[in-house]
Order: sequence, then C-alpha cells, then structure tokens
Amino acid sequence: MVIKSNQRTDDLSGLLLDWYDKNRRSLPWREDPAPYHVWLSEIMLQQTRVEAVRGYYARFLEALPTIEALAKADEDLCTKLWQGLGYYSRVRNLHKAAVQIIEDYDGAMPRTSRELQKLAGIGPYTAAAIASICFDERIPAIDGNLLRVFSRMTGYDEDIKSGAAKSAAAEFYDEIFPQKRCGDFNQALMDLGACVCVPNGAPQCEACPWQFCCHAKANGLCHELPYTAPKAARSIEHKTVFLIYYQGRLALRRRPDKGLLAGLYEYPNTDGTLTASEVPEYLRTLGFSAVQAHPLPAAKHIFTHKEWHMTGWEILADEWEEFTSGKPRKHELFLASASDLRDVFSIPSAFAKYTAQIRMDYLE
Ligand code: ADE
Repeated sequence: MVIKSNQRTDDLSGLLLDWYDKNRRSLPWREDPAPYHVWLSEIMLQQTRVEAVRGYYARFLEALPTIEALAKADEDLCTKLWQGLGYYSRVRNLHKAAVQIIEDYDGAMPRTSRELQKLAGIGPYTAAAIASICFDERIPAIDGNLLRVFSRMTGYDEDIKSGAAKSAAAEFYDEIFPQKRCGDFNQALMDLGACVCVPNGAPQCEACPWQFCCHAKANGLCHELPYTAPKAARSIEHKTVFLIYYQGRLALRRRPDKGLLAGLYEYPNTDGTLTASEVPEYLRTLGFSAVQAHPLPAAKHIFTHKEWHMTGWEILADEWEEFTSGKPRKHELFLASASDLRDVFSIPSAFAKYTAQIRMDYLE
C-alpha cells in the first residue's frame, strides 16, 4: 500500500500519538488497564456505544471483580448483569472463556493475539485490542473506526465490509504502526474514528492530526468514503406474545441453546399474528385455560438480519395442566414470581414493550 502523500510514516504515528496525549478520552478501562478489564470492555463495546457501556462495566466488575469470580459465577447472574446490552452470546462466551483461562492458562490471560483467539468469543479484532493494549503487541485492532480512517486516508473505495478491505487496511497500518505504544496507537485510532473522523455527518477535519495527508480531505470525498455495498433486506417475522398470569405467577420459558437469543428467557410466544378466536386454542397447547384475555399494544424489534413484528395478549388463566402423560411439554414452561422476574431471569430487550406491561400487582 502506497501512502498517497509525501508524509513520512514515522511522522504519521508520532502525529497521532501526540494528538492522543492531548485528546484521549478518559475511560475507566484505560485508567486501570488490567487484562480482565480491557477484555470485558472490548466485549461490551462490540456493537455498543461507550456511553452505554460505562454503567454496565462498573456493575459487572463490582459483582465479578476477577476472572476467577467470573468463571465460578452462575450463568444466569452473568446474563442478568448483561440485561439490556443485547447480543447475549457475548456474555455466555465471556463466561466460557473465563473457565478456559482458569483451566488451561492457570488463571492468567494469554499474552499474544494468536493465543487469545483460542478463547471463546475472542476474534481477531478483540485479540489484537487486548494484546496491544495490555502486552504492547504490534498489531492493528481493525474495527469500523480503523477501516473508515484507512479508507479516507488512502482513497480505498471498494466495499469496506469485505475481507479484502480488512487485508488492505492491515497492510496500510503495518506500514505506519509504531514499534512502541502499540495499544495507545490503536486506541488513538479508535478515538480519532469515534470523535473526529466520524461516520455520519461532517468529519471534523480541522481537528485531525492527519488532515494534511488525507486523500478524502484533499479530494472532497469524506462523504463518499468509506463505500459500503448495499445490504440484503431484513426478513420480517410476525409473533404473538403472551403475558400469562396463573396463581400469582407469570409464565416464562427458556429459548433453545442455539440460534437467536439462545438460552435466554422469554414470554411464551408463537409465530404469526393470532386472532382473538385463535388465542384460546393456542393457550390450550400450553396447558392453560383462560378466564380473561386482553390485547396488548403491538411492538417491533429490529435485529441485525430480521425484524420481529409482535402483537400481545394479557391472559388470566384459571387452570394449568403442566404435564401431559408425565412428559414435560416441549416448550418447558414454568412459572416465575415477582422476585424471580426482578432478580433471576433476564428477559431480552426484544420483549421490552411487554416487560413494561407486566402487572406486578398480579404477582406474588
Ligand atoms: N472501542 C472499542 N474499544 C475501545 C477502546 N479501547 N477505546 C475506545 N473506544 C473503543
């Protein structure tokens, strides 16, 4: 990769590190960059904004201050601490990886990006971030920020989400990466991407230490770069969700271990939009007979690749036949008390609109 300017590559890293020393964001995991802290922050920051992470990060570490505490913790507690952050496979993998670190690495975080990638939930980006920040490994942590900066600096105009773009960015950063302060250099690029070379709206080029050697700035292309190929449309699924009250408890079930929202708890629901006359029949398949059924507001939740369009029903049930001929029903329904709902079972935010409709005064 040829840098399209007469700037020397060591100048580029020096300019950015000087900028970082003056402008770095103060973040809790930067003030105390123990490997566990950096790891946790990196996992939380995937798909989530820094401001949204701060509170979760503090609460998680207060409850589980060490890798050992995390490894020993109940998975439901970990999920509860994650409730609202979304993408729950992240926390399940975090827990799994903590067990791996205790069992396979004597409780100490591996020190190279290669070894780190053997842990559950740690891919090339996260491994590079941890290895550079905690152990000064010379490797770029290529995320959306680094890709955007790369594309604007060099004029790269192919699909920025492709593998080819990642390889080209790795080559570019390898040319300019410093020999020391590797973690600071990655974090400087993250801050530059998050605060100056921003994705939407106008980048703040006048504040950028690289403004004099940026291809997009010189050619008026900041709004065109990076280029993203059009995405496939999200599929739409219709669901009918039930808040079923029975003897002072609310019916819940656990989702399957694989797939969307794997292993999390949910309100019973079924595919399609049931009409009022179809509701009693569906409830019978769960073993309930209803004395009252009231419609709840419609809700929508957008995942990366699909949308759920939901309608809901509040059900007061007077009978529940839990088992059919001694066998558990396939959906494994169970009943949760008010304190179970508050303290034990985390319901993903896809159901937030129905969570807000729960009548705590109906529960014991
Ligand atoms: N985004 C992901 N990791 C980050 C970090 N260490 N600093 C700032 N933003 C980030």
